[in-house]
Amino acid sequence: MTSAELLRHFWWLCRIAAALFLAWLLLSRPASADSLPAAGAATSDADRAEAREIWASTCISCHGENGRGDGIAAMGLPAKPQNFADPTWQAKVGNDEIARAIVGGGAVVRKSPLMPANPALASKPGVVAALREMIRGFAKPAA
Ligand code: HEC
Repeated sequence: MTSAELLRHFWWLCRIAAALFLAWLLLSRPASADSLPAAGAATSDADRAEAREIWASTCISCHGENGRGDGIAAMGLPAKPQNFADPTWQAKVGNDEIARAIVGGGAVVRKSPLMPANPALASKPGVVAALREMIRGFAKPAA
């Protein structure tokens, strides 16, 4: 193979990689981060039960049992998961932002993309609201 041929192959590989990257960018956009449960979306006991399950099976690995950001998987992360007991964070974060972060992932609220999106929850505003309820509940009681 001549070096010109090699270069051509390399050029094609670059183009394919670029196309794949673009496709990934487009597809990984959370489609529904905008149609979000407003603050105070209706929450039922069934929603709360589902939220607890999701917390225990997914969120806990990073955010930890009590939402302190001390889950097992958090140890290896360059960005620390939010500590929900932090009163400063609780005071400044809006209900809407919490919902957007849960459904669309950290990137849609300009936080770390290491906070994963949960697109399946876009159609379950009640469950998102119940998760938010849990997150608000992790706040330290005012001293
Ligand atoms: C892979 C680890 C990981 C998992 C799993 C995870 N998170 Fe996170 N989460 C993060 C990280 C890291 C941040 C901090 C992002 C930042 O501050 O830049 C975060 C931040 C957040 C925030 C704060 C966003 C903000 O605007 O400050 C909320 C709310 C949140 N996570 C909820 C959840 C819920 C609910 C689940 C389960 C459905 C979950 N997370 C699962 C890693 C994770």
